[in-house]
Amino acid sequence: MFKKVLVTGGAGFVASHIVDRLVNDNFEVTIIDNLTTGSEKNINKNACFYSVDIRNELDTLNDIFIKKRPDLLVHYAAQVNVVQSNERPIYDSQININGTINLVQFAQAHKVRKLIFASTGGALYGNCRQIPSPETSSFSPASAYAISKYAAEFYIRMMCEKSGVPWTIFRYSNVYGPRQRLASDGSVVPIFLQNAIESKKSTIYGNGNQTRDFIYIDDVVDSFMTVINENINGIFNIGTGIEVSINELHKMIGQLTNNKRRPIYRPERIGEVKRSALCIEKAMAVMDWKPKISLREGLSKILQANP
Ligand SMILES: NC(=O)c1ccc[n+]([C@@H]2O[C@H](COP(=O)([O-])OP(=O)(O)OC[C@H]3O[C@@H](n4cnc5c(N)ncnc54)[C@H](O)[C@@H]3O)[C@@H](O)[C@H]2O)c1
Repeated sequence: MFKKVLVTGGAGFVASHIVDRLVNDNFEVTIIDNLTTGSEKNINKNACFYSVDIRNELDTLNDIFIKKRPDLLVHYAAQVNVVQSNERPIYDSQININGTINLVQFAQAHKVRKLIFASTGGALYGNCRQIPSPETSSFSPASAYAISKYAAEFYIRMMCEKSGVPWTIFRYSNVYGPRQRLASDGSVVPIFLQNAIESKKSTIYGNGNQTRDFIYIDDVVDSFMTVINENINGIFNIGTGIEVSINELHKMIGQLTNNKRRPIYRPERIGEVKRSALCIEKAMAVMDWKPKISLREGLSKILQANP
């Protein structure tokens, strides 16, 4: 069992929810985040926070590992904006590849007992022929972000296997929930919700028939806790396996908010994945986990929290 957990990106959307659950379950949690997209508001008051850049503040990172002696490293800090990754691929790779290599080296040097990494399913599998896409799908990364996550996965696997550090890689679909930023990476759920609340029109790129697999943050946190409590290793898709079109999402949000404004359709964006849903059979079988919250329930929860 793990006691001391170091979480990178713990001021961001996904990892701040993981931190909250870890703190609640009495783990000793340390957060590393340079607050580029994360927010101080998300930082759990019972976690120890260090504002550090994983790319280059190596002496500070080393001191934190010496002082905190984590037995579990949870690496979720990343450049997550797909558009920005294509505009600034070197910046993206410095965080997502070099930053990951730095952390794996510290995990090895300080004898961390396990590493958990947040990867992406939708972006890695791209326009995969098999929907829902299993972990064995061929890769078809269509953005610099997907390539940097792909490379980071392979560095982790190679370096951890050589040094005997057990690892788990989660390949997430489209995670949504409270604390998701509007401006972040064009995340469609918070944008549509905000527009609907303000009775504004939303923009849909293409014909809106493109599909995504939306998973609520609480289901993501549950899968994370299963892996650490039962010490499960390997690569797992985490999603719902359900394809929802952007038109369907827009319609559902309209119904829940009573916003009858029709969307504005604009030309399709280059490189956008047409269909995406993750096969979660492996996670359900090995982890004895399954997503519990439907899209309608998840959206309602967000709206109740922000009336
Ligand atoms: N949200 C999703 O739908 C989704 C889907 C697939 C994968 N992921 C992965 O999950 C992880 C968390 O994503 P998120 O949606 O919470 O994004 P986020 O932007 O909210 O969180 C990322 C965090 O990393 C921090 N960070 C960025 N660069 C850093 C640096 N150089 N040094 C230290 N900290 C830095 C940011 O300040 C932020 O708090 C990422 O690794 C992302 O690739 C997310």
